Amino acid sequence: MGAKEKSVFFCKSCGNESPKWFGKCPACGEWNTCVEEKVVESGKRRTENGERKTENFPLPICEISNAEELRIVLPFAELNRVLGGGLVLGSLVLVGGEPGIGKSTLLLQTALQLINKKVLYISGEESQTQIKMRADRIGIRNEQCLILTETDTKEILNHVKEVQPDIIVVDSIQTLSSPYVDATAGTVSQIRESAAEMNKIAKTYQVPVFLIGHITKDGSIAGPKILEHIVDTVLQFEGDRHYGFRILRTIKNRFGSASELGIFEMNATGLREVTNPSEFLLSQRDEEVSGIAIAATMEGQRPMLIETQALVSTAAYGTPQRSATGFDTRRMNMLLAVLEKRAGFRLNMKDVFLNIAGGIRSDDPALDLSVVAAVLSSNADIPIDSRYCFAAEVGLSGEIRAVTRIEARIAEADKLGFEKIFVSKYNAKGLNTQRFHIEVVPVATVYDLATELFG
Ligand code: TYD
Ligand code: MG
Repeated sequence: MGAKEKSVFFCKSCGNESPKWFGKCPACGEWNTCVEEKVVESGKRRTENGERKTENFPLPICEISNAEELRIVLPFAELNRVLGGGLVLGSLVLVGGEPGIGKSTLLLQTALQLINKKVLYISGEESQTQIKMRADRIGIRNEQCLILTETDTKEILNHVKEVQPDIIVVDSIQTLSSPYVDATAGTVSQIRESAAEMNKIAKTYQVPVFLIGHITKDGSIAGPKILEHIVDTVLQFEGDRHYGFRILRTIKNRFGSASELGIFEMNATGLREVTNPSEFLLSQRDEEVSGIAIAATMEGQRPMLIETQALVSTAAYGTPQRSATGFDTRRMNMLLAVLEKRAGFRLNMKDVFLNIAGGIRSDDPALDLSVVAAVLSSNADIPIDSRYCFAAEVGLSGEIRAVTRIEARIAEADKLGFEKIFVSKYNAKGLNTQRFHIEVVPVATVYDLATELFG
């Protein structure tokens, strides 16, 4: 049976496959993401007559052993945290992020710091010398860290069999190419096939594999999104390149919670973990300024105090400008409408800018109250005491709603020396406030909040 070539159309964004060209992807609804790729149907990989190729067979569920997944504890506690408590043997972990954010640094540094584990770092991006130079900058020597420059998946398999590493790092998935697919590296079919092969290696040899994947802002490179369903865990490395912070976020995790967050700082000798994020994220202020409020948020299992900053000013042009960094703009507009309609604040002719300090992005609903407080503070030009913080959701009728894990939030604020925390009256009910020094202030509506703060 000869090889047959046919054209297939892929969506660059979600990997949807179609026999026809499309302008708008029928699966994810994105426009102009269609790419044409030639796919060779070699028939090599399929057994036509249904012959069994593997040793797998069905087992009654009660006979399957329920041993805990075995995990390798990595040197970075923040990395262990986002993985759900260490790296699970045989797992395939995708680390996505924009170019230059520090993905290679993160994984090379992890490999160098790991003792008594053999790491095979496979690079298709940089030469061995370049990687050595990076390792010198990080300043750690480790005999167990092996560097291989290779892009062919079949060759990689041979090396893995020979070296028998404990961990594999592939930098990056976009450079891999499988000889089973006749397409250039970086195309949708090549990325999918190479990832599937790396997954097979991971599962067969029970060795965890990190795949580095580039994402660009406009999604112009076929990237990590199309891999999300193949891999076990998706981590995203993000942060403003101009800030020192880097945030490692769990997007998907078959072995733990998908809302964890790890914080790092990039400096001249590589990445450093930030173990006490709250102190780091609150800007140092000497004098009180208006438009700043602190939110007691939860990022995954971890309470964190972050600063919300608002600037409200009279619109210079006819249409007021609204923009938010680190916070959902639609949510901000909703909160502004609530303030307008339910508490009578005239904001419709004002420009409103909102910013979450430190390049952090959060979608914790408990930020609402802090955002509202910051907007009101800027609007009235009256500062909020820097020892106050906020944790509650705001509803459409202006009511202040309860949020989850309120005790953890209060405890964190208490630990950091805050004096007052504003929460929903529904959260305050039945709360044992005796154990905290901090004063817990229950509020019922946005109107109440304004009165509490500014009289
Ligand atoms: P890199 O890890 O190559 O990013 P990615 O693999 O995501 O493309 O490098 C990130 C940036 O970090 C790069 O611009 C250089 C810088 N850097 C430092 O500031 N300190 C260091 O010790 C290292 C190794 C890199
Ligand atoms: Mg890199």
